[in-house]
Amino acid sequence: MLRILVLHGPNLNLLGTREQSIYGTLSLEVLNRAITKLAKELPVEVKQCQSNSEGELVTWIQEARTRYDGIIINPAAYTHTSVAIRDAIAAVGLPTVEVHLSNIHQREEFRHRSFIAGVALGQITGLGPTGYLLALRGLHDHLIASRLQKMAPPPVASQRRAKGTRPSRSRFNDRTVSEGSIE
Ligand code: DQA
Repeated sequence: MLRILVLHGPNLNLLGTREQSIYGTLSLEVLNRAITKLAKELPVEVKQCQSNSEGELVTWIQEARTRYDGIIINPAAYTHTSVAIRDAIAAVGLPTVEVHLSNIHQREEFRHRSFIAGVALGQITGLGPTGYLLALRGLHDHLIASRLQKMAPPPVASQRRAKGTRPSRSRFNDRTVSEGSIE
């Protein structure tokens, strides 16, 4: 089963009580429950973690390399400051979706810049808690598509171009494949 790590950055533990006009009234616990519910339907395995510490988030991202297939992250205020989180995401190379509850582009200018967006698969901003659910579906679909792509035989034209191979019929399907490309 696909495994996805969901990371919540600083102050998101205060969701539900924090600046309700911007972030709404849903608590982090209720949000995590909604993520878990969708994860069961897809199905994917999810783990949610929240930290107020940049270093802890970096460590979790590093550890995800061998344990997870993708990451969903709301880096909160670190979005706008953290080269360390950006570098960690680039280093592990896992497809990562950046989520924000509020629309960071409509807010103060210092929130318009994201250090994360340049290394993310995509960014969802301004859709409230639904953004996390869309991120989960999107990342799931992306991971499934890349798994299928890895399993698919290479296109016939590129096999013909490959040196020393002669096209033949596969034992497993009707497509023409190069000898030796399928065991
Ligand atoms: C946030 C937006 C950030 O600018 C802010 O610092 C947060 C939350 C969001 O989800 O809208 O803490 O990431």
